[in-house]
Amino acid sequence: MYKIVTKKQLNSTVIMMEIEAPFVAKKAEAGQFIILRVDKDSERIPLTVAGFDREKGTVKIIFQIVGATTRLLNAKNEGDYIEDFAGPLGKATETKGLKKVAVVGGGVGCAIALPVAEKLASEGCEVHSIIGFRNKDLVILEDEFKAASQKLIVMTDDGSYGKQGVVTAPLKELIESGENYDEVIAIGPLIMMKFVVATTKPLGVKTTVSMNPIMIDGTGMCGGCRLTVGGKVKFACVDGPDFDGFEVDFDEAMARSSMYKPFEHKRDEEACNLFKGVK
Ligand SMILES: Cc1cc2nc3c(=O)[nH]c(=O)nc-3n(C[C@H](O)[C@H](O)[C@H](O)COP(=O)(O)OP(=O)(O)OC[C@H]3O[C@@H](n4cnc5c(N)ncnc54)[C@H](O)[C@@H]3O)c2cc1C
Ligand code: FES
Repeated sequence: MYKIVTKKQLNSTVIMMEIEAPFVAKKAEAGQFIILRVDKDSERIPLTVAGFDREKGTVKIIFQIVGATTRLLNAKNEGDYIEDFAGPLGKATETKGLKKVAVVGGGVGCAIALPVAEKLASEGCEVHSIIGFRNKDLVILEDEFKAASQKLIVMTDDGSYGKQGVVTAPLKELIESGENYDEVIAIGPLIMMKFVVATTKPLGVKTTVSMNPIMIDGTGMCGGCRLTVGGKVKFACVDGPDFDGFEVDFDEAMARSSMYKPFEHKRDEEACNLFKGVK
């Protein structure tokens, strides 16, 4: 059992929790993820390591409430326990030797992008962060990104905060104005990462994306998380989650990611055992 040490609401649907998990905290690196089960009959869901404190033995997760299991997790409070918290899984983000990087985060993807920006900053890399949200109410982690970045641009779709527009506009401007990035690291919705790649590929700037397909075992055995990367089948849980954005087949990934939508809706409507009694 793993204790919830702190719980904080970051916006109307995004929650941060700090979990007591000393063995995970000891080994976790930016870019890796954990798989948790809220209760003993719950499904397993993957969430990214959003931070860790090796001394305190805690790991931070930041999750968006989107369906049954994230709702069940949000029903837990400080001092409560969750059943399983397995990890760290996947490969850590490669940051070695990078001197100047643009980190692009979209929505809750910013929770995954932040530890990467922080790791780069701690290694002396110049970090320019561009973070995008649908509107002002959904902005998260702005102060944390500011602390890790030499330059921070906040975008909102409706212009209610920061600049109006999508993240690719300032990214293109920065690159065309002569910012010589060793790499762009983009983490967010598939459609956002696809368009980041469409922006950087013609400009020849190496781009890494973090893929989050449906995962089941998280250890490379079930094939549920498969993607096509450079014409080859890759498993996001063991070969990733980070991949060369120029090589990822985003259209296939998007089709696969919505495969279970009707089932997930049905499950929500029928109030299955996973979240009985949870509002
Ligand atoms: C490596 C990885 C890291 C992730 N990190 C984060 C994170 O840091 N914060 C965050 O909010 N979300 C993260 N996700 C997505 C998160 O796992 C899903 O939001 C969660 O599983 C939804 O479960 P649900 O029952 O609440 O919703 P459902 O209604 O069951 O699903 C809602 C949507 O979530 C996705 N999803 C559902 N089950 C899974 C699954 N087993 N594996 C992957 N995706 C699933 C699907 O796109 C689905 O349409 C990550 C996913 C992966 C693969
Ligand atoms: S989740 Fe099963 S192979 Fe990746």
